[in-house]
Amino acid sequence: MSTTPPAIPIILDCDPGHDDAIALLLTLASPEVELLGVTTVHGNQTLEKTTANALRVLDLVERGDVSVAAGADRPLVRDLTVASHVHGESGLDGPTLPPAGRAALDEHAVDYMERTIAASAVPVTLVPTGPLTNIALLLERTGGANVERIVLMGGAIAEGNMTPAAEFNIWADPEAAQVVFSAPIATTMIGLDVTHRAVTTPALQERLAATGPVGAFVADLVAFFAVYHRETYGWDGAPIHDAVAVAHVIRPGLVTTVDRNVEVELGSELCRGRTVVDLWRRTGGLPNADVGVDLDDVGFFELLVERIGRLP
Ligand code: RIB
Ligand code: CA
Repeated sequence: MSTTPPAIPIILDCDPGHDDAIALLLTLASPEVELLGVTTVHGNQTLEKTTANALRVLDLVERGDVSVAAGADRPLVRDLTVASHVHGESGLDGPTLPPAGRAALDEHAVDYMERTIAASAVPVTLVPTGPLTNIALLLERTGGANVERIVLMGGAIAEGNMTPAAEFNIWADPEAAQVVFSAPIATTMIGLDVTHRAVTTPALQERLAATGPVGAFVADLVAFFAVYHRETYGWDGAPIHDAVAVAHVIRPGLVTTVDRNVEVELGSELCRGRTVVDLWRRTGGLPNADVGVDLDDVGFFELLVERIGRLP
């Protein structure tokens, strides 16, 4: 008789953001994980807006029980840069969504994470899907005590998306990313090489919309998120970057990874925030991350549609 493994306790550290919102919904619909709470960070929009968006999405699926704690409103040392050119002025432009019905906790995200992780009987998996400022602050404070691993959406082996060299989450706070990749914590990097294989199609949008009201909301998120990607890449859809990181926790095997050395470029302005992945082991650098190199995109979208369809 097969026994169901216990749910994996996770904290989603995010900057909603269209794909963050979809990652949050996938998390809520998946019994393989236990969402201990949501922390928010600057990134796709200001902290105020990313926090409001996390609360608004939780309201949509009547999950007022899930705590939201706001964290860093700017990078460790760099100036704040938001991605309104991608996610719009609200950070979640496109579908209509009422204002948040509650406030975030009156507790900083790093304090919340430290307290929640310490209280967990099972080591906690951190799933950051925005700039890594909160995670770096936590690691500097606790050394990663009682953290099982970090499964982050960010970086790229090949080309970037914020610049030719760097992916946005790492580019936005490269010093924070270096802290994370330098920490003695098991880390998985779900980068653009993998998430750019998770691009929606119009047929998938129709399947999502047919699953019910939440699926229709997700389809509307994709419709807006696709505008930037159509203009930039000529795609007829959008890459659901952040949901791939969550899917990797829910269903190991969807993402193929290799353990390699990853360093973050901090000195160059041209290559700021580049994740230098030693894919062919040229440098002798010790592996410090499991780096995503392939995605079962069919399996990923089957999981996404099935789980979104479970939401009320
Ligand atoms: O580069 C893609 C990443 O940047 C995603 O996490 C997206 O939400 C933005 O934060
Ligand atoms: Ca994000």
